[in-house]
Amino acid sequence: MTADHDDREPDFARAAEALKWATKVAVLTGAGVSAESGVPTFRASDGLWEGHRIEDVATPMGFEANPELVWRFYNGRRVNVAKVNPNPGHHALVKLEQRYGDGFAIATQNVDGLHQRAGSKTVFEVHGSLHRTRCINCEKVEDRGLEDLGNRPLCPHCGGFLRPDIVWFHEPLPEDIWMRAMVAAEECDVFLVVGTSAVVYPAASVIPIAKANGATVVECNLTRTDASHAADVGLYGPSGQTLPKLLAKLS
Ligand code: APR
Repeated sequence: MTADHDDREPDFARAAEALKWATKVAVLTGAGVSAESGVPTFRASDGLWEGHRIEDVATPMGFEANPELVWRFYNGRRVNVAKVNPNPGHHALVKLEQRYGDGFAIATQNVDGLHQRAGSKTVFEVHGSLHRTRCINCEKVEDRGLEDLGNRPLCPHCGGFLRPDIVWFHEPLPEDIWMRAMVAAEECDVFLVVGTSAVVYPAASVIPIAKANGATVVECNLTRTDASHAADVGLYGPSGQTLPKLLAKLS
């Protein structure tokens, strides 16, 4: 433990105090919560995402232009996620859910399914899931696990082309899931913002919603972000360490 971490003790105490009084807790997670599991985050300094331009692999236009490239990219991500495991940050969030029960919800921008694999129950996947495919013809959504589906998978029901059930840039969020995420943000006493750069909207808008409705906002990140100005408390360090440490202060 460094002196720097010791300086942060009052922040952990403040966050723990807010959680002790809370009956409802909501969480927004991003790629950072899975970083210690070995899932790469998005916003690398070179502006590329695992070597690809975001426009090529994460927009409906990119899929229309080159579906094979997009499927190769997502199959690669599926296979990689199958090899990794939830980390102590995911597990700490499971324990928090056990404490607050129905008063707890995670809205995640992640598509890796690691919260559910850790054991979290109420998880709103606002950007979709790597596990699922959607037929662009009959629109049937299916859980296909994490195996490689090949470069141009077809719908087993109607023969139409499948796409990953991922929300790409320029696409709306799934309405029902997004509504539930917003209600959780509106109603919570404490809002945790974990491992997100908070620059992608509308997902990041749950942060000001929680704040405006009176929640204590706690940011857990390696560094300050666009969300920091809204945060009442910042716990800076890897979430696989800061979340378990926060949890330990509750008992
Ligand atoms: N612990 C905590 N935070 C971490 C860790 C860690 N171990 N490692 C990285 N971070 C933080 C980074 O400091 C950064 O603020 O996680 C954040 C990751 O930011 P992004 O890569 O921008 O990921 P995210 O915010 O989830 O992106 C949102 O953008 O590309 C789209 O749809 C995609 O859902 C994604 C969305």
